[in-house]
Amino acid sequence: MSTQSVELDGMGSLRRTHKCGEIMTASVGDEVTLCGWVNVRRDHGGVIFIDLRDKTGIVQVVFRPESAPEAHERAHRLRNEWVLMVRGEIEERSEETVNPNMPTGTIEVNVRELRILNSATVPPFAIEEETEVDEQVRLNHRLHDLRRPPLQRALQARHDLSQAVRQSLNEQDFTEIETPILARATPEGARDFLVPSRLQPGDFYALPQSPQIMKQLFMIGGCDRYYQIARCFRDEDQRADRQLEFTQVDLELSFVGVEEILAVLEKTTVDGSRACGVELEAPFKRITYAEAMDRYGSDRPDTRVLLELVDLTDVFATSEFKAFKGVVEHGGIVKALPIADAKELTRGEIDRLEKMVRKELGAKGLGWIRVEDDGEWKSPITKFLGEPEIAAIQERCDAAPGMVIFFQADTKDRANTILSRLREDLGAKLGRVDGRKLDPLLVVDFPLLEPDENGKLGYVHQPFVAPVEEDIPLLDTEPEKVRGTHYDVVLNGTELGSGSLRNHRADIQRQILEIMGYDEGEMEKSFGFMLDALETGAPPHGGFAFGFDRWVMKLIDVDNLRDVIAFPKTQRGQDLLMAAPSSVDADQLDELSLRVRLQSKKD
Ligand code: AMO
Ligand code: AMP
Repeated sequence: MSTQSVELDGMGSLRRTHKCGEIMTASVGDEVTLCGWVNVRRDHGGVIFIDLRDKTGIVQVVFRPESAPEAHERAHRLRNEWVLMVRGEIEERSEETVNPNMPTGTIEVNVRELRILNSATVPPFAIEEETEVDEQVRLNHRLHDLRRPPLQRALQARHDLSQAVRQSLNEQDFTEIETPILARATPEGARDFLVPSRLQPGDFYALPQSPQIMKQLFMIGGCDRYYQIARCFRDEDQRADRQLEFTQVDLELSFVGVEEILAVLEKTTVDGSRACGVELEAPFKRITYAEAMDRYGSDRPDTRVLLELVDLTDVFATSEFKAFKGVVEHGGIVKALPIADAKELTRGEIDRLEKMVRKELGAKGLGWIRVEDDGEWKSPITKFLGEPEIAAIQERCDAAPGMVIFFQADTKDRANTILSRLREDLGAKLGRVDGRKLDPLLVVDFPLLEPDENGKLGYVHQPFVAPVEEDIPLLDTEPEKVRGTHYDVVLNGTELGSGSLRNHRADIQRQILEIMGYDEGEMEKSFGFMLDALETGAPPHGGFAFGFDRWVMKLIDVDNLRDVIAFPKTQRGQDLLMAAPSSVDADQLDELSLRVRLQSKKD
């Protein structure tokens, strides 16, 4: 990987006249000056061809011994990723040498003058549209990876989206205001990243999981409509759609109800997406949380998938089928996923699915019925079914020859999770999807509180969500029935963002915290300043946060957040390029009054 020694040229007075991919704006015969990287060098005996690349694309430049002997001689030394400036004339390629796969494939530049601006170490992989290279290698060599067109497009899409969102929100009378990064713990429920304070030994800042508290304080501070493209930090397990550090389009408004906020969200989603070439239609489809769970088994369903779940809990409550009945007796549910015309789902395929749901989702099994051509049911569970169950399945699933019906009897959460996963996997595999590229959906009417395994009520979204006004009396009597004002925007099965109205009255905020089990002392410690703030004259307010990285991911149709973030963290939370996190000097620790005590030796 050593750099070959080479005499480098200065920049001189040369300035580029065109970018490589935009060369077609010049004409044949024009003299042009281009800068870029050597994508590929081909030495065809006498003539040397270089594919010169910059952000905009690639153009072929040619070194001929007869027209530029000096440049040609020096071009022998060029290697991939060296940085050049070339001057020459645009020439038409002969018919046999036209490259129809290249936007600039009808011309080439006959080089008169070459300046070598920099040499380069041997690149770890070719800088191409597609790459087979392992992601670890790409992240280790992120600078080479960033030169690849898909990453360039992703960064451009981030730019286009953020500019369009700013413009849209500016037009809607929002003011962009920054919030501190060195802050206090916020209530999103993930683990905090802590920063030790040198000036207050033993104390820590928490990096914000979102600007939630601060934006509410802005409303109380009279700012009326705030937005920010905000960095958020959450120390949680990473997945394809979760990073430790990510970006939100965060907003908050005063003196509004849910409908006004949803209108802002729709307009902003449409305007932002349009900047990346995706047209969406507002108003978006709406579904309640209860309906989403019932029909799709998920609060963020991909409604492009045309399959739906069927509830059979009532039927099995009185069944002789002990396994299923037992689940219902313990508060669980029984649901089915009927798939018509599913002959492709062979026995082998079903066995594979059963193994997958057992292993990955903790399923207890996977019941199924296949309706044969003659109407016979093939199934490992029919022997346990009585007349009423058979009749109910027949009717509710609309059973017909060719159909496969999957069953889950489990806790509400697990049965829904498993069937929802099968619904989306099999829907995609069997082509049961409508063709829309992006399908925005508003999910509304979430419950305010939900019980944990021990029956203790906790918040569904975050502790500041306001209840639906007419449900406020239920806080005294049946708090689990209180609806929250929370709403989500879902895009193709991914939660794009969420928000709610907030409690602007301290008494209601206190009551909700009490229901969640906070005593006076804990309330004061964790939320005291917020409660005090509400008492200074807080206006009714609410807001929302879009997951900006997820939005970009959907707009350019990639599956992993790491492909839309310039310097992402790996699964293990590392930035491989800059080798972060890293150990620090003992002096630095001393200054911060810290001592590191490793429980097990690193690596
Ligand atoms: P929430 O926690 O739902 O709400 O976050 C809002 C949106 O941020 C995105 N998001 C993430 N993106 C990438 N990596 C992560 N680890 C990650 N975590 C969340 C999601 C999510 O929908 N303050 C509230 C918003 C509000 O009520 O106004 C909040 O942060 O797309
Ligand atoms: P068993 O009686 O355990 O052999 O189960 C009979 C069939 O029911 C098998 O196909 C199992 O996969 C399936 N099954 C068992 N338990 C469940 C459950 N809780 N939910 C769905 N299917 C199940």
